[in-house]
Amino acid sequence: MKQDMIVILDLGSTENARVARAVRALGVYSEIYPHDTSLDQLKALPNVKGLILSGGENRIVDGVEVDVDKAVYESDFPKLTVNHPKAPSQDAAVWPENDEELKKLLSGFVFDRCGAQANWSMKNFIDDQVELIRRQVGDKKVLLALSGGVDSSVVAALLIRAIGNQLTCVHVNHGLLRKGEPEQVVQVFRDELKANLIYVDAVDRFLDKLAGVSDPEQKRKIIGAEFIRVFEEEARKLDGIDFLAQGTIYPDIIESGTKTAKAVKAHHNVGGLPDDLKFELVEPLKMLFKDEVRACGKELGLPDSMVYRQPFPGPGLGVRCLGAITRDRLEAVRESDAILREEFAKAGLEGKVWQYFTIVPDFRSVGVRDNARSFEWPVILRAVNTIDAMTASVEPLEFALLQKITQRIVNEVPGVNRVLYDLTPKPCGTIEWE
Ligand code: XMP
Repeated sequence: MKQDMIVILDLGSTENARVARAVRALGVYSEIYPHDTSLDQLKALPNVKGLILSGGENRIVDGVEVDVDKAVYESDFPKLTVNHPKAPSQDAAVWPENDEELKKLLSGFVFDRCGAQANWSMKNFIDDQVELIRRQVGDKKVLLALSGGVDSSVVAALLIRAIGNQLTCVHVNHGLLRKGEPEQVVQVFRDELKANLIYVDAVDRFLDKLAGVSDPEQKRKIIGAEFIRVFEEEARKLDGIDFLAQGTIYPDIIESGTKTAKAVKAHHNVGGLPDDLKFELVEPLKMLFKDEVRACGKELGLPDSMVYRQPFPGPGLGVRCLGAITRDRLEAVRESDAILREEFAKAGLEGKVWQYFTIVPDFRSVGVRDNARSFEWPVILRAVNTIDAMTASVEPLEFALLQKITQRIVNEVPGVNRVLYDLTPKPCGTIEWE
C-alpha cells in the first residue's frame, strides 16, 4: 500500500467527517473508525501514522460514556485528543470552527508529530484499490448494476481496470432516463472501456407497470421493485457470480449511523435482492467523499459529462412526468430537459447550478399557434442550489436565458405551448414536484 494514514477514532464528535476531509485536504489519507477498535485492529491497518481521538456531544451512548481501549491509549501511536478529559495530554477542548485554525492544528499533528507523508493522491488511491480488489476477488466474477450515475460509473471503471472481464455490468433502461443516457453508458463502457455490458431494454415493461398509476409514492415503489426484479432476472441468467459491486460512498456509510450517531437514513444501493441471491460485496468507493469520487472518475478517464453530472433521482423522469405517466408527456419531459441542459451548458452554468430539470404536469392550457387555437401542456423549469438537498434556493436565472429556453421548448417540443419558471425555495416546495 502506498499511502500513509491517520485514523480518527470516533468518540462522539459530530465533526469527524469534517476532520477526515481536512486531513485528506493536507494530502494525507484518513479514515474514521469506531471508538472500540482494538490496538490489534489498528496495527493491522496499513501505514497508520497517528490517531485522532475525537470526542464530542455524542460521547454518552445509552447512559454510558464511551472510551477507547486502554491498550490504545498506551500504544506508541502519536495521538491528538480533542474533548477527551481522560487523555494524557489535552490537545484541544473542541474542534476549531474556523477552517484555517483546524488546518493549522491538524497540520502540526499530522506532519510534525506523526511524520506522515503527503502522499494521498487519486493515482495512489486507484493503485491501492486495484490491488485490494484483485486480492478480494481473485479469479471470481463480479456483478454490477450500472445506472450511469457518477458512483456506479466510477465503480465500473475502477473494476474494469482491476479485473477486466471478470466484471459483468447490467444496465437497465427503464425508459425514465434522460435523453442520450443509455446510449452514453453503452458507448463509454462497451465501446471504449470494452466492458462486459448487458444492456436491458425494459422500457415497455416499466411503462406498462406504471400505466394509470398517479400516486407519486406508488410510482416510486413500482419503479424500485421492478428494477430489482429485472436485475434479479439478469443475475439468475449468469453463472458463477460470487460478488456484487456497489457504488456505496462515505456519506452513505456515515448517514447509516455509527456507534455514537443515529442513522439519518438507511442506505442501500441495490437493496431488496432475494435471500437466495447472496453475494459478497465489493465497495471500493466506500471511503470516498463525493468530490473525491468525481476526481477518481476523472483520473480513470471517464468523460466530464459523466463525472460532473447533476444528481438524478432513482425514479428518474418518472417523478417529473406528473400523475399517471403517458409516453407522449414523458417524451415532452425528456426533450425539454435536453434543451434546458443544452442551454445551461452554453450559458456556462453546467456544474455551477446544483440541479436543474423540467417537469410536465398532467393538465393542458389554451394557447394560439399559427393563428389557430392550441390546447397543450405547460413545461415547468426548475433550477436550484443547495448544500445537502435539505434546503434549496432558486437560481436567479437571466431573463434573456429564460426567454431563449422558452422559445426553444415551445418551438421544438411537440405538445407544449407554455413554459413556467418555478420560483419556490425549499422549504416550502421540495426540489422535485412529486
Ligand atoms: P426533494 O424533492 O425531496 O429532493 O427536495 C431532494 C433531492 O433528492 C432527490 N430525490 C430522489 N432521489 N430517489 C432518489 O434517488 C427518489 O425517490 C428521490 N426523490 C427526490 C432529488 O432529485 C433531489 O436531488
